[in-house]
Amino acid sequence: MSWSILEGDCIDVMRTLPAESVDAIITSPPYAMQRKATYGGVPESEYPAWTVAWMTEARRLLKPDGSVVINIRPHVRNGQISDYTLRTRLAVREAGWAEAEELIWDKKGGAPVGHVGRPRRSWESLHWFAKHGRPHCAPKAGGRVGRIGGLQGRTDGSHIHGIQAAVTDGVARVADIVALSTRKNENDTDTNRHPAPYPPALAEWVGKLICPQGGTILDPFSGSASTGVACIRNGWDYIGIEAMPEYAEMSRKRLAHTEAERTRHTA
Ligand SMILES: C[S@@+](CC[C@H](N)C(=O)[O-])C[C@H]1O[C@@H](n2cnc3c(N)ncnc32)[C@H](O)[C@@H]1O
Repeated sequence: MSWSILEGDCIDVMRTLPAESVDAIITSPPYAMQRKATYGGVPESEYPAWTVAWMTEARRLLKPDGSVVINIRPHVRNGQISDYTLRTRLAVREAGWAEAEELIWDKKGGAPVGHVGRPRRSWESLHWFAKHGRPHCAPKAGGRVGRIGGLQGRTDGSHIHGIQAAVTDGVARVADIVALSTRKNENDTDTNRHPAPYPPALAEWVGKLICPQGGTILDPFSGSASTGVACIRNGWDYIGIEAMPEYAEMSRKRLAHTEAERTRHTA
């Protein structure tokens, strides 16, 4: 298991990495112009083209069955949900990516966002794109197994046969919603000063779905390297790219700490 934090603009840095060297990309890019005061942003009108640009570079790095999971959310302006995430999804699909699924992160206990006069949004989307419609996926790897039930078979029995076999074998699929608190992970260091981290457990859940054991995960918008923490805990190699030297340095300390913890636990 290895990890590295590379500094710079992710498109420039990705150009230096070898083709087909990455199994999965799990990332949360800056939302459209939402955090200008801290680490900048991309104007809404440019967001789809900018996403297609970095994903084009990412595509070269991905292995044939690899995929990308992107966490972005719209904001509410003038009483209406902004449309940049919709336009971005369409642009990415038009650029040749297969959208495998929209996964949902239920931010259990997290502060809801959105319009004050309406039910407030307490979930975020994880958009899952792949090079083709059958990317690597291990639906049981997350360990949250539910029964398949209530499905009708065709009269020739062919459809139901597969379902019965699945139930008999205890094969069932992880749901597409994961409930995870935004509170800092108790096992994590106290020093994460990043303004918008997601919990390492979120990256862990996604990683188990889309990354083979011992594979390599890239986060081109690494931030405080929460994806890297998940990688170290699960034995995946990690490459993080971060534009801000301050966050890159903070991440290195965080990952060194996580690695030391893991070594202590496995000793
Ligand atoms: C939403 S944050 C990621 C947070 C991360 N998931 C975590 O848990 O800490 C996005 C990060 O992308 C970085 N960033 C923004 N534009 C970038 C670019 N063009 N290349 C590399 N990093 C960039 C920002 O500095 C910020 O730290």
